Amino acid sequence: MSDKKTPLAVLCSGGDCSGMNAATRAVVRTALYHNTEIHGVYRGYAGLINGDMERMTPRSVSNTIGQGGTVIRSARSKEFMAVEGRTRAAEELRKHGIGGLVVLGGDGSFHGAHCLSQEHPDINVVGVPCTIDNDINGTDLAIGYDTAVNVAMDAIDKIRDTAASHDRLFVVEVMGRHAGHIALEVAMASGAEEVFLPEATENLEGAAERLAEGRRNGKTSSIVVIAEGETQGSAHDIAQLLKDKTGYEVRVSILGYIQRGGTATAADRVLASRLGATAVELLLEGKSGIFVGIENDSVTAHPLPLAWEAKKAVDPERLRILRMLSI
Ligand code: F6P
Repeated sequence: MSDKKTPLAVLCSGGDCSGMNAATRAVVRTALYHNTEIHGVYRGYAGLINGDMERMTPRSVSNTIGQGGTVIRSARSKEFMAVEGRTRAAEELRKHGIGGLVVLGGDGSFHGAHCLSQEHPDINVVGVPCTIDNDINGTDLAIGYDTAVNVAMDAIDKIRDTAASHDRLFVVEVMGRHAGHIALEVAMASGAEEVFLPEATENLEGAAERLAEGRRNGKTSSIVVIAEGETQGSAHDIAQLLKDKTGYEVRVSILGYIQRGGTATAADRVLASRLGATAVELLLEGKSGIFVGIENDSVTAHPLPLAWEAKKAVDPERLRILRMLSI
């Protein structure tokens, strides 16, 4: 009797993040450890549709555990959003005898994975949450978030040097088009005075008043962190208002894509290794239509739609404490 197992594939989809390589490595090596053929698909669903894939060996992922970005590349695919695109993708998988796919990505990528698994039940699909935004419901953490937060915190620590030396207020914009998790975490970690998030309608005038009061009470510099997706106006609009209301000399710094790259933190490497390995083992058990996550430091699995059915809330307690500590 042959113990040959159905071959698997792995792809990265959507915005890249640090830790994707550690997750890819975990997927590849766990599959090979269990005597299962594994293919790396290049450039996400777009590459899958075009059959752009290659059989991986343990050496394909050597020395990648800490590397930022993704060695198998990532992409966003319009074609895969349509039934025809997904049918072509499934045909490519069948052509290579592949019966299981690990998708590393965010909620958009999970949507695609869900459609694929529904329309093609012979293809088993498991998602692994990878996004600096950390906005996937059903997991405490997504891979890439910790690194992004640390990169932004390091940057703000440097900005604070200039803020303090020149008695300035800095408005620092961090990533998060639809979610404020990075902004809130970084604001707290860097001791920022105020934070603006897409989720909370902050009162800009109230924030300006608190900053002005801080100045009257002896503060000589301040940091205001804003998420890319907040709704109070652009970083420059906010800076102008704060300048007018507080009298501070104000500067704006938009951190941008530096937050998506760089060497993955230990926390992200470990999370990626745990989730990547579990994703493969679940596929080998015949599971499908699910994503793995981490809850209270245990690896869990949920149906893919849970990832987007409810919006993952920012922690109001963090906001309260940040305010209390910024007097
Ligand atoms: O990865 C998530 C994210 O960083 C968002 O916060 C941001 O708005 C978006 O990616 C931008 O990505 P891109 O320019 O690749 O579309």
